[in-house]
Amino acid sequence: MKPLLQAVPEAAVELPYYVPAGNECSLFELAWSKRLPLLLKGPTGCGKTRFVAHMAAKLGLPLHTVSCHDDLTAADLTGRYLLKGGDTVWADGPLTRAVREGGICYLDEIVEARKDVTVVLHPLTDDRRILPLDRTGEELQAPGSFMLVVSYNPGYQTLLKSLKPSTRQRFVAIEFDFLPFDHEIAVVASESGLSAQQVRPLLQLACRLRALKGQDLEEGVSTRLLIYCASLIAAGVPAEEAVLATMIEPLTDDLDVKQALIEVARATLA
Ligand SMILES: Nc1ncnc2c1ncn2[C@@H]1O[C@H](COP(=O)(O)OP(=O)(O)OP(=O)(O)O)[C@@H](O)[C@H]1O
Ligand SMILES: [Mg+2]
Repeated sequence: MKPLLQAVPEAAVELPYYVPAGNECSLFELAWSKRLPLLLKGPTGCGKTRFVAHMAAKLGLPLHTVSCHDDLTAADLTGRYLLKGGDTVWADGPLTRAVREGGICYLDEIVEARKDVTVVLHPLTDDRRILPLDRTGEELQAPGSFMLVVSYNPGYQTLLKSLKPSTRQRFVAIEFDFLPFDHEIAVVASESGLSAQQVRPLLQLACRLRALKGQDLEEGVSTRLLIYCASLIAAGVPAEEAVLATMIEPLTDDLDVKQALIEVARATLA
């Protein structure tokens, strides 16, 4: 089937480095060409943001990223009137800009946003693809190249903070996890400058710590933290110090758990 929209040729742009885990790149491209919104779910630091940056560059689209939080209102996304030299002027928010430009709007940690935000997203994420701006009286029709991408970490979800079925069922969804072992080594080595051989035992340790998720730890060591660790070691920090500062301290404040993690690290890296 012929795609509805044509992507910019890859060679024309410098793509942010991204190693795919599976078919997520073609799924993203297909969702975009079919004008379907996309939901990415997965643990912190596993590559969701990098993936969106990579795909936006690949498709040659402007990217507007918003980190959602519990004070974020619909007006923060759509826009508001501002006072400028005695006049009130309308200023588009990032969602409105993305719709007008036909770019990508990426809402990170969408479950943190307030409920009125979903009211704005609903008409934009079904076949109407419209963004009503009550304040200006406009009703924007999203151009074909506009895409809404949202992400969240299911690990942090509570009953109070979850997406309503009527919201989540508007999205094509992709689950993210940490890359397969050898791919993750390649990513950490490439991002930190440490050799693959030196990264290997760090990743082995990370895998052991990830196995503790749900027991003693809320979240396992992310690819992001592994890159921090490898970068410190590449800069000359002794491995034990680097591991403590990046793969243990950020994970827990509990002294007993910390001690247990130090033991696991010693046994793994010995
Ligand atoms: N598949 C990948 N290809 C290339 N780099 C990756 C990949 N996965 C992770 N990384 C690296 O890990 C870092 C963290 O990833 P990223 O910021 O995309 O995580 P995230 O899933 O968006 O996390 P959060 O949920 O905390 O926002 C990136 O800056 C990048 O260096
Ligand atoms: Mg992110």
